[in-house]
Amino acid sequence: MSVLVLGGAGYIGSHTVDRLVEAGEDVAVVDNLITGHRQSVNSKARFYEGDVRDKEFMNQVFDQENVEGVIHFAAFSIVPESMQEPLKYFDNNTGGVITLLEVMKDHDVKKIVFSSTAATYGEPKSVPISENADQEPTNPYGASKLMMEQIMHWCDVAYGIKFVALRYFNVAGAKADGSIGEDHHPETHLVPIILEVAAGKRDKLIIYGNDYDTADGTCIRDYVHVMDLADAHILALNYLREGNNSQAFNLGSSTGFSNLEMLQAARKATGQPIPAEMGPRRAGDPSTLVAASQAAREILNWQPQYDDVESIIATAWQWTQTHPNGYED
Ligand code: UFG
Repeated sequence: MSVLVLGGAGYIGSHTVDRLVEAGEDVAVVDNLITGHRQSVNSKARFYEGDVRDKEFMNQVFDQENVEGVIHFAAFSIVPESMQEPLKYFDNNTGGVITLLEVMKDHDVKKIVFSSTAATYGEPKSVPISENADQEPTNPYGASKLMMEQIMHWCDVAYGIKFVALRYFNVAGAKADGSIGEDHHPETHLVPIILEVAAGKRDKLIIYGNDYDTADGTCIRDYVHVMDLADAHILALNYLREGNNSQAFNLGSSTGFSNLEMLQAARKATGQPIPAEMGPRRAGDPSTLVAASQAAREILNWQPQYDDVESIIATAWQWTQTHPNGYED
């Protein structure tokens, strides 16, 4: 039976497909290649190009594949873009999961692991954020993902479809051999942008806001390596295979780094000066997102291998240096 990975040509999806193949799983991938890259998909996985919202296409894939469980990454995930184009997010993220769950129900597939996000919490009332903290998103991206969690809950109640929602904090890094990595157009995320400056592709980093209520005034985030995140999906799938109940888990390191601290770590990891200047705040940004992630460690037995941002950045730097134009190289 196969594990069907939706969005398997994306950044986190492609690293997870790689790990699944390595673990001996039979893997099929669906991706519409709007933001994904065909070259990033491990050649041992079967590939279907199409959209999660296309029910006819999805039915064909499920008819062809004997799907045991689904890992669902296919979504838009840029916070500032979601502030400008909320309907794009509700259509693809929230709408997409409705079609997916309909097809799963019709094909009697009862296990799904999917990408949720720290952005479902919004501005936290206390830090670190535990899974039962209030979920009050401050942007449409977070809202679209929270709705996905709620839809999953009711589909569990009605149809017995069991889910694991993995609430990622900030993901960074690349496979250690530099063969796959992060390649977004346009790039909006902090670590790859800092590394574009280090590589001389951008003049400078603009830090969005230094008037937040944090020690140095810049936003604080909790960074996890993409391979550690990939491993968590396999553990979550196994958790469902063991017959456990639906649950949400935070995936973070439990340590926060400010944007300025990230800049310093990148200067060390790359040995480059990386010019930076302060700019205004970016709309929709919560000041601090740091995970309490004991549940994933205790219940899923998740053991992240990367525990410092400098080594996470170093793997991303290896990818940036060997692929200055991403997958176009
Ligand atoms: N930032 C800058 N300059 C830049 C880019 C980013 O200062 O050029 C800042 C942002 O304002 C923010 C921090 O760097 O304070 C991190 O921003 P990212 O865009 O890298 O990541 P986000 O925290 O906005 O979002 C990411 C994922 C979301 C996820 C969220 C959870 O993209 O999917 O982490 O923390 F929900």
